Order: sequence, then structure tokens, then C-alpha cells
Amino acid sequence: MDRKTEQDVDFEGFSFDAFDEARRPSPQTTGFDQVVDSALSRRGLLGLLVYGSGAAAMGLGTGVTGLLSSVSAEAAASRFAFAAIPIATDATVHVPEGYTWQVLARWGDPLFSDAAEFDHATGGDAATSDRVFGENTDGMELFTIGGRQVIAVNHEYVNPKLNLPNNDGGTPASAEDVRKLQNLQGVTVMEVAEGEDGWRIVVDSPLNRRIDHNTQMRLSGPAAGHDLLKTEADPTGTASLGTFNNCGSGRTPWGTYLTCEENFNGYFGSTDEAVALPEHFKRYGIGAKSVYSYEKFDPRFDISKNPNEPHRAGYVVEIDPSDPSSVPVKRTALGRFKHENAATVLTRDGRVVVYMGDDERGEFLYKFVSAGIYTPGGDTSTLLDEGTLFVARFADDGSGEWVALTPEATGMSAAEIAIFTRVAASKVGATTMDRPEWVAVNPVAAEAYCALTNNTRRGVKPNAGGDDTPVGGPNPRAENQYGQIVRWYPAGDDHAATGFTWDLFVMAGNPTVHQDAYAGSPNIHDGNMFNAPDGMMFDTTGLLWIQTDGDDDNAGDFAGHGNNQMLAGDPATGRIERFLTGPHGSEVTGLTWSADRRTMFVGIQHPASPFPDGEGTLGRSSIVAVKRADNAPVG
Ligand code: FEO
Ligand code: CA
Ligand code: CA
Repeated sequence: MDRKTEQDVDFEGFSFDAFDEARRPSPQTTGFDQVVDSALSRRGLLGLLVYGSGAAAMGLGTGVTGLLSSVSAEAAASRFAFAAIPIATDATVHVPEGYTWQVLARWGDPLFSDAAEFDHATGGDAATSDRVFGENTDGMELFTIGGRQVIAVNHEYVNPKLNLPNNDGGTPASAEDVRKLQNLQGVTVMEVAEGEDGWRIVVDSPLNRRIDHNTQMRLSGPAAGHDLLKTEADPTGTASLGTFNNCGSGRTPWGTYLTCEENFNGYFGSTDEAVALPEHFKRYGIGAKSVYSYEKFDPRFDISKNPNEPHRAGYVVEIDPSDPSSVPVKRTALGRFKHENAATVLTRDGRVVVYMGDDERGEFLYKFVSAGIYTPGGDTSTLLDEGTLFVARFADDGSGEWVALTPEATGMSAAEIAIFTRVAASKVGATTMDRPEWVAVNPVAAEAYCALTNNTRRGVKPNAGGDDTPVGGPNPRAENQYGQIVRWYPAGDDHAATGFTWDLFVMAGNPTVHQDAYAGSPNIHDGNMFNAPDGMMFDTTGLLWIQTDGDDDNAGDFAGHGNNQMLAGDPATGRIERFLTGPHGSEVTGLTWSADRRTMFVGIQHPASPFPDGEGTLGRSSIVAVKRADNAPVG
């Protein structure tokens, strides 16, 4: 078969995952028979394991056998304040009986009264596109600021065919088109309020703000000022513009918002297709062709002219939602990779831990531990600049360790570790994971969870750095189209510890189609099937909320999975129940609560038409507000 070159591929409309796959196709010769053989034998092993016939006696990892103990307790009393709902395949949202939902915000809704109302014929007004709620809602957090409730929320990417519906294929044809797409991404900070008619955006609130692809940022931490971050426009290497592909989120104990730059590579391209690319661009998937063609109209994104610009993206960015004039800070100490989210927790002695996944096949799981101690009311301005970045190494026996990415361990400078974090992690032999998405830290137990969304190339293809992706440990299935959630327990119940033990909370699957490891773990049954766990967050009671971004065809391997959804999981019993289903075509992502916990805000990203405005309208990414009919707290 002829293999297409990068230049032959039209990336328009690709998911970012597919974009990377097209850029870095599987090797043509993979020793295919050998790979299949090993996958099959492993499957056989897991088939026994999952159904409990003597896993421990077979000498298998205690991490995976942990599945069994969590399931044996499944019959324990329910902690769920709802009756699980069935799958859905339609174009709307469903919640359990006794709950209600309404739309809080849609792509294009004005944040300021000088913004035009949304027009389905034009995909929204271009001139005021930086004054409205942006596209593709994702991670979010609610803050209470001076008695006001303020949501900071990400706008991960754009859907140009919807945003520029009158352009051929949605392709930007002018600098104005590019500017519109740039304006619709980034972050919204908006005040929200609940009135007689439910929740609404407080238009013109002094706290409302849009942060987009052109907003002034400050670079801080070990990479700030490094030559690799300097550009003609910013010879200091400390002041960049814009935050990109803002995926998951986090919050600090001092009330700031963390937004995470994920697939930043797709924004950069070259007007010179023959440009010589630095070798290190490959590890981050940066190439001559971009997703949105910004480079044709905005030279900042043209790597033939500004080869250092991509080094200024791929970070966790801290935003102060209480001050609309504050300059967001790119915290390079937290590393540069495809950041999913940033889950924070304090160590026993008050240092700040930030857990982070790098969402690409075969990349890694990280944590940052600050050098300084957090004290309420104290100076927090450099807490996320000084500290140690660690990467996870999982052993098959259910143990694991966090390996420090230091100059001694990697042979790299602190700045190089911050900029080429993936390379540093490869050098210390970190464990290649099945696409780490969100991390969630249990507020009532010393444990944390990471959604490993899927990896159809495990065991078949190395990661972009050439590291092997062996089947085993917390990544126990080849051709893993379903995903799993790994959980770890820090030694001494202290998130500062470098040692931990781990198990799998769940392996998603389909027991109606498969009888082997692809059936999933025993806490999966025909009433709670899902695939591709992604967003995850704990509520204050210690219930784990799981959101999905998977295949919603409801056919074949995914028959009975329905639309993407949100489920709740009980860490103590392993029991998982479906709480919400999204409209067809959507991903359910982003979760936060009102100050009184009586409302849960849930993100519905890229729904197919006609959600939420009805027949003949464009699908609009939205935040929905979910309440109990009796107005009791929701989680
Ligand atoms: Fe933006 Fe990995 O999800
Ligand atoms: Ca995600
Ligand atoms: Ca995903």
C-alpha cells in the first residue's frame, strides 16, 4: 500500500489524535505475527485473571489482582443518590429521575452586551468573537470571589466547519477568519448566577474575561528566558501570546485556575513545505502542516519564520480569576507536553503536588512537588516555579515509584527538562501509558486516579520517542480500544512519597460482545458499559465522577455503550453507575459545582446538530446545570 506523506494529508476535521497518527503512521513492518501472538497469549492470561481463577497463584501483578478485591465487595450498600439510567443514542441530555438539567452557556453566547447575538447562518459574529462564550467547552472550575460565583472554563479547539460555515470546508481564507478561530479558543472567565429561571451568565460582570490565542502571557520557571524560548518579537523569552488547546483544568489552594495546553503542536505549520525541522520537533509531533492553517495568515505560527514559537506552548498556565487585568503565567516547572489536566493536593508538610497526564499514546504520568510550603495568605507567586518534576514508573507487582527528573538523572539542564520533558522522562525509563487523561485526587482517602483512555497501538508501536509499549502493568491489553482507570496509593499516605502501590479501579469493556479481557473488569456489566474514560473529578464526599470521550456508534465492539456519558464510581466497592448521557456526537467533559453544591455543571463538547437549539441549527458546545428536583446537594 502506498503510504501518504504528510503533505498529501488534509488534516481538516481530524481529531488531534488522528492528526498525530497521520503524521506518524504505524511502521509498515512490525513483526506483525509476533505481536499478534504475544497479544493473544496475554489476552488468554487476562481472561483467567479477570474472572478470578487463581490470578495470584499464576504470579500475576498484585496491581491487576486488586481488581478482584474491589469487585468482591461490589454488593456493598449503594452510595449513589440516584437510580442509574440506560444508554441513549439521541440528540439530547438525560439525567436520572428526580434530577433536572438546563443549558447555562452555549458557544457564541454574549459575555458582554456589546457582543452580537449568535447567528446560526454565520457561525457567530467575527468582530465580537472575543466577547462571547467560546467553542468546545472543556475543563472548568467554579470560584467564589467576593460573594460572586465565577466559572473559569476552557475552550479546547474549534470546529471550523461550524465556526466558518460559509467557507469551503471551513478552511480559513483570511487573517480575519484566523482571528475568529483564535478568539473562540482559550479560556472564559464568567460570573454566573441562579435566579427564578435557573442559571445564567451575568452579562457585563466586571469579572468576565476572555483569554484567547493572542492574550499576553508571562513565562516563568526554569525555562523562562532560555534561548529556545526567545523570538524576534520577544527577545527576553519570557512574554508569549496566547494559550492553546486548553483541555483539562485544575485549581490551586490559593484560588487560581490552572488551564492545561494539550495538542499545541497542531497550531504550528510552515509556509515553506521543505523547511528543515529540528529533530526534537518529532517527539512533539510538530510538522510542516498544521490543523487550521494559521501560518498562512499569521507568521507567528509559521515555523519556517519562528521556529522557537512552539517551545512557548505545551505548559500549564495559571490564571487569577479574581483580577481580569492579571497576566496569565505559563509555569514551565510543570513540564512541556500534551497536558491533560492538573490535579493538586498538599503533602503532609504543606508542599503543593500537581499530578499531570501527557495524553498521547505511550507517553507518561507526572507529578510536580513544590520546594516551598503553602501557607494560607502567604506568598504563592513562585510555588509553582520551584520544585521537582517526577515521572511514574509502574512495576508489574503492583508497586511503583516516582522518578525525579533532575539534571543528574537526565544529563539535561533544568531548562531543557522543562522544555523537552518527554525526552527527560524517556531517559529515566518511565512507564509508557495508554494515553493518560485526567487525574483526580480523592479528598477523603490517600489515593489518586488517572483515566487511561485507550491505546490501539500498545505493543504494536513505540511512542514518538521510540520507547517500547509492552503489554503489562497498568496497561494490560493490546489493541486497547476501551481504556482503564489506574489508581495509586502513596507510601505513608503522603503524596510527597516517591513510592506507591497501584491497582486498576476499572477496565472498560464489553461483556456482551467479548468473553476475554475485552469484556472488561468484573465491575463492568451490561448496565454500565462505557469506553474511553477521560474527564474525572471527585466530589467532596469521595465519589468519583467519570466522563467519556469514546466511540458512540453503539455498534460492534461498542454495542450497548450508547452516547458518551458521565458515571459515578465508588472507590470503596468498585461499583459504577451511569448518571448522565450526552447528545449524540458529543464528548462529556468538564465538571464543577456551585458554591452550595446544589448544582453540578457539566460540559457537553461538540454535540451533533441539533443540540441544544433544535432542528436546523448548528450543534453548539454547552455547559449544562444539573440539579436535584428537591434542591439537595449533588455530590
Ligand atoms: Fe483534550 Fe486528552 O483530552
Ligand atoms: Ca480530555
Ligand atoms: Ca479524550
